[in-house]
Amino acid sequence: MEHVEIFDTTLRDGEQVPGCKLNTSQKLRIAAQLDQLGVDVIEAGFPVSSPGDFQSVTEISKLVKNATVCGLTRAVEKDIEAAAEALKYARRPRIHTGIGTSDSHIKYKFNTTPDKILERARDAVAYAKTFVHDVEFYAEDAGRTDNEFLAQVCAVAIKAGATVLNIPDTTGYCLPDEYGAKIKYLMENVPGIHKVRISCHCHNDLGLATANAIAGVTNGARQIECTINGIGERAGNTSLEEVVMILRQHPKLNLSTNIDSKRLLSISKMVAEEMGMMVQANKAIVGENAFAHSSGIHQDGMIKNRETYEIINPTDVGVNESSIVLTARSGRSALAYRAKNIGYDFTKLDLDIVYSEFVNFADTCKVVVDNDIHHIVQMSKNKFQLSL
Ligand code: KIV
Ligand code: ZN
Repeated sequence: MEHVEIFDTTLRDGEQVPGCKLNTSQKLRIAAQLDQLGVDVIEAGFPVSSPGDFQSVTEISKLVKNATVCGLTRAVEKDIEAAAEALKYARRPRIHTGIGTSDSHIKYKFNTTPDKILERARDAVAYAKTFVHDVEFYAEDAGRTDNEFLAQVCAVAIKAGATVLNIPDTTGYCLPDEYGAKIKYLMENVPGIHKVRISCHCHNDLGLATANAIAGVTNGARQIECTINGIGERAGNTSLEEVVMILRQHPKLNLSTNIDSKRLLSISKMVAEEMGMMVQANKAIVGENAFAHSSGIHQDGMIKNRETYEIINPTDVGVNESSIVLTARSGRSALAYRAKNIGYDFTKLDLDIVYSEFVNFADTCKVVVDNDIHHIVQMSKNKFQLSL
């Protein structure tokens, strides 16, 4: 299997989310867990942006034992100097520098020319190289950048010493086949591309961040930038837990990561709590309903064999077990299963009687819990002769 590096940017792109700002001790707690999880790179922050972020990157650099610690910069000397200073204690420091490359960035954001962008890209990488060996270059808005110009920017960055080329779909615009084709084009047209690692950094504005990252690695990229719970600017980034489990559940892709997947649920909960950002119940892998079954047809299949309705073993991602949730859509086998867990062993006749009470009760509420089952059994006993 070929290795895909997991570059976690929860503490940088994730923390940019309004209301998700973390203080240094919160960032340190999350960084320690990310290191244990097995991520290859932790993007710890944007050191020049504030004294607090500078301090966080410094402290994370001292703390992290295994992962590369990375700091973001613009293609600006003072940003690069601040990042180098904040990363000076890191065992494996990386400076992440770059500039916008799409027509709209060149024209409206910088009011400059493509040649000047090439010059600034080269200078930024070369300057960062005077501080650290490992320099990642990002071509902001690469998703909407003309492929030919993007290839020129990448070639310049490689020549200046970049070790990783980040191809962000900053606005989440690309379709998976377009993004995959962009990576393929770079693999085939940039001199020296095989000496460096291409990275996918995809945003989720159209709900395609995960699909685009996977299209990127199936076309030759070997790093995915992602966040826990998919948090990040606007609609978020590629979700770490999703890409890790996609690669794991599809061995035919022949791509693997170093992530200890059993830690995914606990780190998801920790990030949600520290950031005060709830995870939606139907979120893939870590949502509350990701392993919950509520319709009678599915529950019957699940009770017979888990694999009928689950493609992931919940324990692989740190969830103790699948749950059978009782609602008005549940059937007899789910009721019998849940009732057995709390001590009732129904005959077929008992089950018919209790089930008819159950459906009436279930119509009046959203979910039937264990206490309700006791109540339903009692009501059935009051009306009918049960053999219990
Ligand atoms: O989305 C983006 O383009 C970014 C870059 C700063 C890497 O976050
Ligand atoms: Zn981003």
